[in-house]
Amino acid sequence: MSGPTPELPIVVLDALMPTTQRLVINRRGSTVWEVQSHRGHFAVKLGYPIEATAEWPAQPWTALAPAREGAVLHRLGLDEIAYGEWEHGTWNFQPWHDGPDLHKLWEPCRKQGSSIKASTSVALGCVEALADLHVRGWAHGDVQPAHFIVGPERTHLIDLALARGGQVPQGYDFPFRGCLVHYEAPEIARSVLDTGEAEPTQEADIYALGASLLVSATGWRAVEYPDDAPRPVQREAVANGRRRPVKVPGELGDLVEAMLSHAPGDRPTIYEVGKALI
Ligand SMILES: Nc1ncnc2c1ncn2[C@@H]1O[C@H](COP(=O)(O)OP(=O)(O)OP(=O)(O)O)[C@@H](O)[C@H]1O
Ligand SMILES: [Mg+2]
Repeated sequence: MSGPTPELPIVVLDALMPTTQRLVINRRGSTVWEVQSHRGHFAVKLGYPIEATAEWPAQPWTALAPAREGAVLHRLGLDEIAYGEWEHGTWNFQPWHDGPDLHKLWEPCRKQGSSIKASTSVALGCVEALADLHVRGWAHGDVQPAHFIVGPERTHLIDLALARGGQVPQGYDFPFRGCLVHYEAPEIARSVLDTGEAEPTQEADIYALGASLLVSATGWRAVEYPDDAPRPVQREAVANGRRRPVKVPGELGDLVEAMLSHAPGDRPTIYEVGKALI
């Protein structure tokens, strides 16, 4: 679908009766609003297919992502969520979480000459959010700095559209084709290059968390490749494990290095990461 920003579907308007609504993002395949209503404070997500252009192939799965995420949140026992279909795809609503994301919060650490160190307690909040998922036997599949919302009481890990660990309705399911390459573990990148698909795992989430902490704290990606390299070239660099010689300064440094280990079995579990931070 292309053209103007889609509007909130009637079913969502009926269910939430918004008092205010704010468009948060509107990009290829996905639109998100922040909605206030007498029922509470919500994020509403709308998905639609990405049509093929000269630069990228069609991506019909983006239409299914909100319903798939809704089904995952449901399985995880979250209240106050709903999902369904609209004209061009699927939608969900879920509780809104206030706060900056990890990348935004650590902006001061990335300023040149900054003496501000990445805070261990913020890192621990991210670890706890991911541990919540791992302890239930799920893998997130799309861990990245923008998906950690650092709230006043706790940190939330959002965007569960690609998570694996339990049944989701077949009609809303789709294969995992990798995530943002900067946060992709080498074995995921290799599998996507070889087969076009991969299996999200908890070990790959740990790598992605390490890469998220590194990028947010230093501004440097874990692996070296040119900014404008095509995705397969980026994935080849990741799969070959061409680590940049860059470390998070301070206490988090060695832990993040271990999380970025090339072999999945060499990475600490989320419980080990948590223990190291307490
Ligand atoms: N529950 C929520 N609480 C607060 N903000 C949210 C929530 N869900 C989504 N957002 C905001 O909307 C943005 C996009 O949401 P999300 O990542 O879930 O959608 P997406 O379509 O999968 O985007 P992307 O392709 O970047 O992963 C988030 O980065 C965040 O700013
Ligand atoms: Mg996202």
